[in-house]
Amino acid sequence: QTIYLKDYTPPAWLVEDVHLTFRLAAKTTRVISRIRFAPNPDRVDQTFFLHGEDLVLISSHIDGVAVTPTITEEGLSCDVPDGPFTWEAEVEISPATNTALEGLYMSSGMYCTQCEAEGFRKITYYPDRPDVMAPFTVRIESDLPVMLSNGNPVAEGEGWAEWHDPWKKPSYLFALVAGDLVNHPDRFTTMSGRDVELNIWVRPGDLHKCAFGMEALKKSMKWDEDVYGREYDLDIFNIVAVDDFNMGAMENKGLNIFNSSAVLASPETSTDANFERIEAIIAHEYFHNWTGNRITCRDWFQLCLKEGLTVYRDSQFTSDMRSAPVKRISDVIDLRARQFPEDQGPLSHPVRPERFQEINNFYTATVYEKGAEVIGMLKRLVGDEAYAKALDLYFERHDGDAATIEDWLRVFEDATGRDLTQFKRWYSQSGTPRLKVTEDWAAADDASRPPSRDLADNPEAPDQVRGGGTPSGTYTLTFEQHTPEGSGQTEKEPQVLPIAVGLLGPNGDEVLATTLLEMTQAKQSFEFTGLSARPIPSILREFSAPVVLERETSADKRAFLLAHDTDPFNRWEAGRQLARDGLIAMIRNGSPADDRWLEGMSRVVRDDTADPAFRALMLSLPAESELAQALHEQGTTPDPDAIWQARETVAQQLAETLQDALPRLQAEMTVEGAYSPDAGPAGRRALAGKLLGLTTRLDGGAQAARQYTHADNMTLQLTALACLIRSGRGEDALAAFYNRWKDDRLVIDKWFMLQIAEADPARAADVAKTLTEHPDFDLKNPNRFRATMGALAMNHAGFHRADGDGYALLADWLIRLDALNPQTTARMCSVFQAWRRYDADRQALMRQNLERIAAKSDLSRDTAEMVGRILG
Ligand code: ARG
Ligand code: ZN
Repeated sequence: QTIYLKDYTPPAWLVEDVHLTFRLAAKTTRVISRIRFAPNPDRVDQTFFLHGEDLVLISSHIDGVAVTPTITEEGLSCDVPDGPFTWEAEVEISPATNTALEGLYMSSGMYCTQCEAEGFRKITYYPDRPDVMAPFTVRIESDLPVMLSNGNPVAEGEGWAEWHDPWKKPSYLFALVAGDLVNHPDRFTTMSGRDVELNIWVRPGDLHKCAFGMEALKKSMKWDEDVYGREYDLDIFNIVAVDDFNMGAMENKGLNIFNSSAVLASPETSTDANFERIEAIIAHEYFHNWTGNRITCRDWFQLCLKEGLTVYRDSQFTSDMRSAPVKRISDVIDLRARQFPEDQGPLSHPVRPERFQEINNFYTATVYEKGAEVIGMLKRLVGDEAYAKALDLYFERHDGDAATIEDWLRVFEDATGRDLTQFKRWYSQSGTPRLKVTEDWAAADDASRPPSRDLADNPEAPDQVRGGGTPSGTYTLTFEQHTPEGSGQTEKEPQVLPIAVGLLGPNGDEVLATTLLEMTQAKQSFEFTGLSARPIPSILREFSAPVVLERETSADKRAFLLAHDTDPFNRWEAGRQLARDGLIAMIRNGSPADDRWLEGMSRVVRDDTADPAFRALMLSLPAESELAQALHEQGTTPDPDAIWQARETVAQQLAETLQDALPRLQAEMTVEGAYSPDAGPAGRRALAGKLLGLTTRLDGGAQAARQYTHADNMTLQLTALACLIRSGRGEDALAAFYNRWKDDRLVIDKWFMLQIAEADPARAADVAKTLTEHPDFDLKNPNRFRATMGALAMNHAGFHRADGDGYALLADWLIRLDALNPQTTARMCSVFQAWRRYDADRQALMRQNLERIAAKSDLSRDTAEMVGRILG
């Protein structure tokens, strides 16, 4: 059944405090709860209902008197006194058979929990909703040496430990861990002088993989003090690495639990990209302590309140630790690859959804990444100082609250005096706005220029951006915005669009530095005066709004911006657009690769004033799925094989164009000395990796084979292996790689992933199928499942192979996984979301497989909702 935002009502009963005892046993864990309830003064009814799923109730008491509640699949209800009372219950649960990885479960012999969003109800009966907050005391009884929960440790003895969390929190932030674990310890002194004990807890064999995560944690703690004035608030902060985990990590108060892939790192086993991701996720979960935990969400519709803001904060952190332009470009690549297709297909939903069946299906790129874009726009509109002031007010006003988007926006209105009524549409309106721009130039003596033509339906005069003193030319940019209908919303209203614009003169110098245009209407013009010649505009600098910019422009102008734009994002964007237009022309009518792009790339790649990481991003081609989307938008049915072929052709031409420069450039990018995951050396390796990819197209893999043999870190090793697989020489290296790393689950995930992702499209589904028969394929481990099936979906032409074997293989495994792990199954279904874009045969095959999943008996609510939405 569907739950609606508009139906929210406050809880009838509040919790004053919670005491939990866990008697851990693999299949028969007992959970004894003692909960103090009090009536909520704001309540609208008096019903006493506790959520509870898959629990065996052993006994229950109210104020010491045994009671017999009414129990359903969703929970229990019971007659209760009018005033405050104490509820006590004992339940039995089975962590060892919990394959959904939600609630209390076991992973590699350790007990751990995942309660967000609604997992706590699988641990005990409780009002499992985020607006019920309470302090928790937890006693754990077991023979295991390490027993952890939220807050501070208060007492321990032989076979037991007790923890107390003084900060009131919702149940989704509860956590418990027990196991045979070892710790990597450290300390941090907060800005007010609180001495905090830090630990990363892992299985004994993983202790050498903790140092980097610990440094990232300390940097995050310091950064949140320096930039947001936010200090840590307990005596201890624990992180635990868990092998079986549905998501990246979880911000439980004082006890963050991480997918081991999101925390464990060593130079020998992790790539530069792994290090960067780990740093960002550690920061993200730590930052949640304020944006999520101290201030939480009233209900799950408000998820973006904590996630959008925390993603925004972790992106600021990464920008400060590494390169801001490189981070921005990478984020936009990711947004276009994951959020745009979501927002433009059957899964489209607003940043703050208004309905859901299963909330786990809404931990999406729209809520997270578009949610972060909305914060970025808000900051740009109000300015840095006002943003800081508003955030201070937010923390001051809402500390301890379960808040809403309305609360969040009111803080900005109160701090800045701005009316954010229209801006709020970013939270309620789904879809990616399309922004069309046209330009007009009137030279100084151009008397023929009719006043405000082009502005017929705009009653207001165009905004004057720069008033020039001397009589001179006027340049006008006219924007039109339009959001296509979708997710049941037919009438879309104009959004507030912050459009950062700069102007370049004909010889490449900047005649107008970055200026923010604030668009609020469907159509709006902006005039720039005081110009001596017609400028070349650089529009949507830094990707100042998450829109699709539609601009008819020439390849020459793109090449000009690629050469001269002072905004690194738009410089990259110009190159990307050139590549994209060239590829599309090649796919649609067999045009040869665009010389201007090839020339531009030659210049950029040799430009040693430019950051190597930036140059590496310039050299990467738009993804096949991005091209498929672009073709679809232009009215051409995408042919996955033709797209793959065009990218191959263009990459080959790029390799030939750069042929003479490759050896020297590669030598320049060699990193000497001990491995460091810092942005500098990582950027050089990134560029060297791109260059090796090009070289492999010319030497058949000879150099890659040498690099594979001599590599002393995973980045170099994996890059070489990828090149060898692509050049058809991967067999021996893959076997050697497996033997070398067979005891390291995270590295073997890479082994699974790489051979599918890099396989020739004609073989990808077969490679994936063979790997599902490998003894190390483990359906119960989400990382391994994603490494296999996710990699297949990433191999665009391979997944969409015309015979439909890719679709069928994935559907077979989704059907099997659904019985074990609904969350990971449902999430993976989204690879079918763009099915309507393709030709009739492929559509029919995809539909068939989706219907096959839908028809499975006992299909989970998670997967049923996803498949239903995708089929429409
Ligand atoms: N709050 C976690 C994070 O951002 C994600 C946990 C989501 N879990 C889930 N089952 N949906 O960082
Ligand atoms: Zn988060």
